[in-house]
Amino acid sequence: MMENLAPLYVNHIQEQTRRVADVLAREQLQGLAIHSGQYRRQFLDDINYPFKVNPHFKAWLPVLDNPNCWILTNGQEKPVLVFYRPEDFWHKVSDVPESFWTEHFDIKLLTKAEKVADLLPKNLDGWAYIGEHLDVADVLGFKSRNPDGVMNYLHWHRSFKTDYELECMREANRIAVIGHNAAREAFYKGASEFEIQQQYLSAIGQGENDVPYGNIIALNQNAAILHYTALEHSNPAQRLSFLIDAGASFHGYASDITRTYAFEKNAFDDLIKAMDKLQRELVELIRPGMRFTELHLATHDKLAALMLEMNIASGDKDALVEQGVTSAFFPHGLGHMLGLQVHDVAGFANDERGTHLAAPAEHPFLRCTRILTPRQVLTIEPGFYIIDSLLAALKNDGRSALVNWDMVDTLRPFGGIRIEDNVIVHQERNENMTRDLGLN
Ligand code: GLY
Ligand code: MN
Ligand code: MN
Repeated sequence: MMENLAPLYVNHIQEQTRRVADVLAREQLQGLAIHSGQYRRQFLDDINYPFKVNPHFKAWLPVLDNPNCWILTNGQEKPVLVFYRPEDFWHKVSDVPESFWTEHFDIKLLTKAEKVADLLPKNLDGWAYIGEHLDVADVLGFKSRNPDGVMNYLHWHRSFKTDYELECMREANRIAVIGHNAAREAFYKGASEFEIQQQYLSAIGQGENDVPYGNIIALNQNAAILHYTALEHSNPAQRLSFLIDAGASFHGYASDITRTYAFEKNAFDDLIKAMDKLQRELVELIRPGMRFTELHLATHDKLAALMLEMNIASGDKDALVEQGVTSAFFPHGLGHMLGLQVHDVAGFANDERGTHLAAPAEHPFLRCTRILTPRQVLTIEPGFYIIDSLLAALKNDGRSALVNWDMVDTLRPFGGIRIEDNVIVHQERNENMTRDLGLN
């Protein structure tokens, strides 16, 4: 059962306000005007793209579907919410909110987007615009727009989730796990990729534009395409494997979960079990104070051992890593920060000023180099794939002898494996939200 959010939210809003006070003092600013966003029109059409709210806006409150809203905060007084409520008989107009968060805002209604200047501070000197529409900021007279000092600070601190946020993320996991269970059942009953997607969405009660990212639902060799989103309507001649990378949203927070299944007991199923063990061991390794990069490197070490054990490779374990053999089978990063965005901000930040710590040159796709600290939420998602374009390089040079190509041929039709959980770092333990919900 989800904890009552109302008391947790009190602390959340205090923390948001405290951060603003801190950064305003540091940057010598008066306040922030955080814009929810605006609709974007499709080319030569009168239809809008789906609205995606500014993450800085939804950090304050779970209003996700309303453009032309603003939060005005000076870090001292109760924040103002300018809530857009046009007179419009063509479209559904958002109701005036009444929820656990409403009492924490001074709410002002805006009926015409272009009239917002009437509700903004009269003197915008020292007020920074935080949002996507710099043209709007310009017209309104904001001189400061998304200043680096403010953005870096807010992004850094966003990695330390409040109790309210952690509870939202547990709930986003709970919803996604319902979908994963439905999808697994659909796979074993013979559903196509498209049908599995429909059953997933229907089970979680979220539409394609509500989930935090485009689901990856891949049968057989499609599982080797890292960002596969095609969704075949027809079934493959033979059903071999299923990789599903799918999340859910709750109050604007994301979950991001992957599982892989074999249709029958076989060598691929054994490999899934070995990868599952490896993934759990990696979660266990998390300790506050270590860098995420260390965990990523540990993954390669473990993968090399696994490849020897499963007779996929031969030779020296360290050589498999050093010569890039493991990278050809596991070409992406171990994971990333998770939160208001699936690939949440500040994965490379080394401090609140935004000093960038790049991934090691041999691991260019690693999305997080940060020191792990309590209240961070990360994905742990090791993978193993048969991607012929990457393996071609191995096959054609001296490394070829290290790989058991017969085993590669056996595994190829199954595509690949990824197992992804969402983990909270605590001081004394790691909380695997996904496994805690019973998704194995
Ligand atoms: N679903 C995108 C990712 O796992 O990073
Ligand atoms: Mn994922
Ligand atoms: Mn992920």
